Amino acid sequence: MSVVRCDQTDAWKALQAHYDASGRQFDLRAAFASDAGRFDHFAIEAPGVFADLSKNRWDASTRALLTGLAAECGLEARRDAMFAGEPINLTEGRAVLHTALRAPSNAPPVSAVTDAAIGEVHSVLDPLLAYAERVRAQAGTQFTDVLNIGIGGSDLGPQMAVIALQEFAHPQLRFHFVSNVDGHDIAPVLARLDANKTLVIVASKTFTTQETLANANVAREWFTANGGTDVATHFVGVTTNIEAAAKFGITTTFGFWDWVGGRYSLWSAIGLSIAIAIGADGFKEFLAGAHAMDEHFRTAPLARNLPVQLALIDVWYRNFHGFTSRSVAPYHQGLKRFPAYLQQLEMESNGKRVDVDGRAVPFATSPVVWGEPGTNGQHAYFQMLHQGTDVVPVEFIAVKRPAAGHDGAYADLHVKLLANCLAQSQALMQGKAPAEAAQESPPTASRTIAREVIAEHRAFPGNRPSTTLVLDALTPRTLGSLIALYEHRVFCSGALWGINSFDQWGVELGKALCNALLPRLASGATDGLDSSTAGLLTRLK
Ligand code: F6P
Repeated sequence: MSVVRCDQTDAWKALQAHYDASGRQFDLRAAFASDAGRFDHFAIEAPGVFADLSKNRWDASTRALLTGLAAECGLEARRDAMFAGEPINLTEGRAVLHTALRAPSNAPPVSAVTDAAIGEVHSVLDPLLAYAERVRAQAGTQFTDVLNIGIGGSDLGPQMAVIALQEFAHPQLRFHFVSNVDGHDIAPVLARLDANKTLVIVASKTFTTQETLANANVAREWFTANGGTDVATHFVGVTTNIEAAAKFGITTTFGFWDWVGGRYSLWSAIGLSIAIAIGADGFKEFLAGAHAMDEHFRTAPLARNLPVQLALIDVWYRNFHGFTSRSVAPYHQGLKRFPAYLQQLEMESNGKRVDVDGRAVPFATSPVVWGEPGTNGQHAYFQMLHQGTDVVPVEFIAVKRPAAGHDGAYADLHVKLLANCLAQSQALMQGKAPAEAAQESPPTASRTIAREVIAEHRAFPGNRPSTTLVLDALTPRTLGSLIALYEHRVFCSGALWGINSFDQWGVELGKALCNALLPRLASGATDGLDSSTAGLLTRLK
């Protein structure tokens, strides 16, 4: 399939002209003042997720030009190629079929490759869910704790989802996630566990990852040292490399396939901890929510397609406005690991500097994605978001209803949480002029400073853009939809940039150098090293 890179289109030139003529100066306050229906005009309802895009620096003509860019880049054909299982991960010669992981077994035919993949998925999914149910049936007796050992996509997604879906988790099971190759991560966890009541999931797509294998070894030693005998019952592997898991001594395994990228793998056997937490029915709901978003992405017209429109705003900000990062602010404690999960999804996918043909791209790609749950972020870095020199688009995620049972005092907390969420996007957009700030009486301690000086400090520039996503409740289904929304958005921006969003060669050099340094840390040999690495190695040995 030929790839039309965004900067090689007429739409790109038109967008640059539009940016120079009015986009650069765009003022949100004026836009709202001149269009009473702006909220409705820039709202998109997708399965499980409502999006208010009106507080972004765009108007109808920006949106039309951006949507034209998507069309000219052949985004729909690229999307269809992904769904059809074409090997769009060109540098690894693989299909990208995480959408097959959540397709129902009776899904209408797509292509021979995809249909075969869906068949394979269900041949593993059914026994996986049956296994999860067996573990749940023994919760509180045979198993009290589930320890997932994995890193990157084998940790971030499952961990994020298990935390998010705590309300639906089995009440007699505790879940732990260990990822770092650092005794300070695993030791305190193991210290709390009973070997004979713990299920250890070793989650690794490749089953070659240093951190995971090292932690799995530690866990196995701990298991036998603490009276554990039945490895087959207490260790389960989830991997595409069942042979390596068997060599490691794990006989209970669930497989998946190389067409599932690590950061897209929580829907596969890698999601075993999620399935154990929320049960087979909950996991099916989770998959169904994602599938509903897949269908929206596959069929909605570009102008009403939420992942497409979010990606177009990303391109508008990154490549025309030059904004370097995006802050994610989930106003739900359950989503506290969501920003960390998104960091891998977005930055490992789109942190690329060459296009699919190996040419250096003459424009910026992935923004830095970062954030903390509201309202914690408000009391940390929101100062910078409101008054700093950089403009950082913020993505608010609000959840209308709290968990069941959150009534009384908890209900009051939820109203306060939502009010904070609304206030922040309003404040970013409205700002406060120095003249308005000057009306406020200065703090007593500052009466010696001129009123105008204080007013400047207290003024807010405003016109700072944000998107607000709204879920009715945080459930397996809506979480599935939300995650799939982000997966497709990342696909779209990567496709527009003409890069391969599905490889991650950038992590390899550090792994190789680490392997070379390991024996040196033991021997102290520094020959041939640069003086910084040599000096630090000597100091750390
Ligand atoms: O960091 C590189 C990476 O390959 C990620 O893409 C992946 O999610 C992670 O390592 C873990 O890999 P594995 O699941 O094979 O252990």
